[in-house]
Amino acid sequence: MTTMTMMICCVQRCPATPAPVLLSLTVLSLFLFISPVIGWRPWPHQKINASDLEFGGSKKYEGSSEFVHLKYHMGPVFTANITVHTIWYGTWQKAQKRIIREFINSISAVHSKPPAVSGWWKTVQLYTDQTGANISRSVRLGPEKNDRFYSHGKTLTRLSIQSVIKSAVTARTRPMPISPKSGLYLLLTSDDVYVQDFCGQVCGFHYFTFPSIVGFTLPYAWVGNSAKQCPGTCAYPFAVPDYIPGLKPLKSPNGDIGVDGMISVIGHEIAELATNPLVNAWYAGPDPVFPVEIADLCEGIYGTGGGGSYTGQLLNGHDGATYNMNGIRRRFLVQWVWNHVVNYCTGPNALDQ
Ligand SMILES: *[C@@H]1O[C@H](CO)[C@@H](O)[C@H](O)[C@H]1NC(C)=O
Ligand SMILES: *[C@@H]1O[C@H](CO)[C@@H](O)[C@H](O)[C@H]1NC(C)=O
Ligand SMILES: *[C@@H]1O[C@H](CO)[C@@H](O)[C@H](O)[C@H]1NC(C)=O
Repeated sequence: MTTMTMMICCVQRCPATPAPVLLSLTVLSLFLFISPVIGWRPWPHQKINASDLEFGGSKKYEGSSEFVHLKYHMGPVFTANITVHTIWYGTWQKAQKRIIREFINSISAVHSKPPAVSGWWKTVQLYTDQTGANISRSVRLGPEKNDRFYSHGKTLTRLSIQSVIKSAVTARTRPMPISPKSGLYLLLTSDDVYVQDFCGQVCGFHYFTFPSIVGFTLPYAWVGNSAKQCPGTCAYPFAVPDYIPGLKPLKSPNGDIGVDGMISVIGHEIAELATNPLVNAWYAGPDPVFPVEIADLCEGIYGTGGGGSYTGQLLNGHDGATYNMNGIRRRFLVQWVWNHVVNYCTGPNALDQ
């Protein structure tokens, strides 16, 4: 098992933090034969190395950096209408499913009040394939599958995740449709399920299934509910890590810390799957085994000035909840994504738009 930590030199001064902060990226590869695997975590676990800080000085834009060379590597992207196929693994409440479904439906809900989830997706739509076709505007929920009885147990490995997807697409009753070009398979695990490297290194990841295991090459993502295992890591800022004294959690917009924390990770993975579904399209970094993708570049940035442990400027509701965008009937907190046209992280709640 190898873990590679890359420091990308996004150094900037933030309104709320006097010292320059460093946006650090962690990209993991676990087995040689299953790599690359794209990890996600919101929190820079590494100590900031003062000599790394010398690179930057003040930068105008969140995450902006002349060191980021995001490139297109000629592979396919999701230009056809996207259908999200959700597998609910373990025990899920109706109310929890509703929050997640409404977030996914909000991606294409162009009439939501700004700043809107559909405005956030506009940055993803800026990416194109070889023919110049943009990422699809349309993201819809497709048929779902419940895996209520933990078909592969309460501890999943990266490989057994593929077996869970296989079970869903080969089920005897109502198998999930197989659509490699427009289907995005989203495996969500309940708070009592441990997935390999969950919490320590990742909150979610995406990859594609192997024909040898599943029978097809299907782009998929996994995201776990961290509520019982590591909310301070994976549901930040609605929970905070113990090792940072004095930091207070923010109130989550939908009353469920674990699920509200998953929303940003789901957004992260869907944005990366759309732009890099087979890990040969849009990514930065010299090594395809350790791609740095459009959401990795903006990890932890949710608003103007964001970076390091500072989320950036957010919105506060009358009820005290913190969020940065509106969707169908709900508010959400979702990290920004890299805009390759302007070369910095953008989101619908940016103050300088
Ligand atoms: C910081 O980085 C520099 C150069 O990359 C290295 O020489 C130094 O040992 C690092 N310091 C620490 C404390 O890691
Ligand atoms: C498609 O991508 C191009 C290049 O990034 C961009 O200029 C254009 O605005 C995009 N179109 C849409 C509908 O987002
Ligand atoms: C894609 O979705 C749009 C609605 O967002 C719809 O009008 C269009 O017909 C769909 N295209 C295909 C090929 O299904």
